[in-house]
Amino acid sequence: MLQHFFGLFYLLAVSQLLSFTGSHADDECPVQLNPQSVVVKYGGSVSVDCSTSVPHKGMGWVSSEGGVPLTRDSLITWRVPELREWDIEPACFINYNKTQCTVYLPVTIYKTPDSVSISTVNHNGPMMEGNQYELQCDVLNVAPVQNLTVNWYKGQTLVDQTIFTDTIKTPVSKTSKLLIRPDRADDGAQYWCEAKLELGEEGPRPPPTNTSDPLSITVYFKPIINETKLPSIVSVFRGYPLVIVCEAEGNPEPTISWSVNSTDIVYSETLNITESTPEDLLCIASNSVGITTRHVKVVLKGNYACLRIF
Ligand SMILES: *[C@@H]1O[C@H](CO)[C@@H](O)[C@H](O)[C@H]1NC(C)=O
Ligand SMILES: *[C@@H]1O[C@H](CO)[C@@H](O)[C@H](O)[C@H]1NC(C)=O
Ligand SMILES: *[C@@H]1O[C@H](CO)[C@@H](O)[C@H](O)[C@H]1NC(C)=O
Ligand SMILES: *[C@@H]1O[C@H](CO)[C@@H](O)[C@H](O)[C@H]1NC(C)=O
Ligand SMILES: *[C@@H]1O[C@H](CO)[C@@H](O)[C@H](O)[C@H]1NC(C)=O
Ligand SMILES: *[C@@H]1O[C@H](CO)[C@@H](O)[C@H](O)[C@H]1NC(C)=O
Repeated sequence: MLQHFFGLFYLLAVSQLLSFTGSHADDECPVQLNPQSVVVKYGGSVSVDCSTSVPHKGMGWVSSEGGVPLTRDSLITWRVPELREWDIEPACFINYNKTQCTVYLPVTIYKTPDSVSISTVNHNGPMMEGNQYELQCDVLNVAPVQNLTVNWYKGQTLVDQTIFTDTIKTPVSKTSKLLIRPDRADDGAQYWCEAKLELGEEGPRPPPTNTSDPLSITVYFKPIINETKLPSIVSVFRGYPLVIVCEAEGNPEPTISWSVNSTDIVYSETLNITESTPEDLLCIASNSVGITTRHVKVVLKGNYACLRIF
């Protein structure tokens, strides 16, 4: 009767232990690993306890490093001071109830990349507005790539993300690419990428992150003339000359000129207008990307008195 009672008690204890360790019903092995999984930096130290609360005929750790031979103890520790084996698979076993059962310890070994660098693919120098370019982020020797995320930033804004599905445990190098189609507002923008190892609860906090240097892009674009500053019709009064301004934005800095008549080109942003100025003027803003023009019509008004009437 008493035996029965203890048996029941024991079964309850084991089932509680198992539900606590989250093990599956098919491996009802009465040992507990603490912690249940580990994340270790390559070359770092690690130790995990294996314990049992049941009477047994010996237990131990099987591992290519840090193994513990068969012992009657009920708490044994797998310990490696400098872990350098990528595919290590430690397991705790117990001889119990006439059989042997084993629990494997999931080990994640990580290594931050040797370098993270950003570059432009097949291109040097300034980019043209509206064209497409490819940027590349190279991450050298990182593990495990399954837990690597490459984030792309423009300034402080996250613009893209790459994840990798390879299950290889040893370090590999990976490349992530980003297509961009810059516009004038992107002139001077800084792109950069970061390699982040998301290693879960057991992993280091914050996740190990390595970033590239920033890549500044220069965007060339055709001049745009400020039409607010330069109306298309300008009235001039006899005896009252005025100055009009042609201002243009562009990269490289545009050259501004006024075509006053077919032979007279004035290289200036400003132009003096008098009653003798021809009625059709053209502002020309040009740079290496292109030429933008704006036509200005000069309307000669009789005299200043007219203005005073209205
Ligand atoms: C021991 O194993 C036998 C059969 O393998 C099973 O019937 C029995 O319930 C087990 N005892 C315990 C205490 O788990
Ligand atoms: C690593 O990534 C895989 C796949 O995304 C995930 O299942 C696993 O939990 C991650 N490892 C850790 C230690 O977080
Ligand atoms: C990568 O980042 C880790 C910390 O997250 C740092 O210890 C390591 O030195 C960095 N590696 C390089 C190449 O900068
Ligand atoms: C154009 O000129 C107006 C008036 O001076 C100014 O307010 C505006 O900012 C200019 N636009 C650009 C794009 O420079
Ligand atoms: C062009 O304008 C200039 C003054 O701005 C004048 O001297 C010259 O005669 C004009 N030429 C023609 C062809 O109209
Ligand atoms: C425009 O007129 C002012 C005086 O009214 C003069 O100082 C300036 O040199 C003139 N500019 C041009 C381009 O003729």
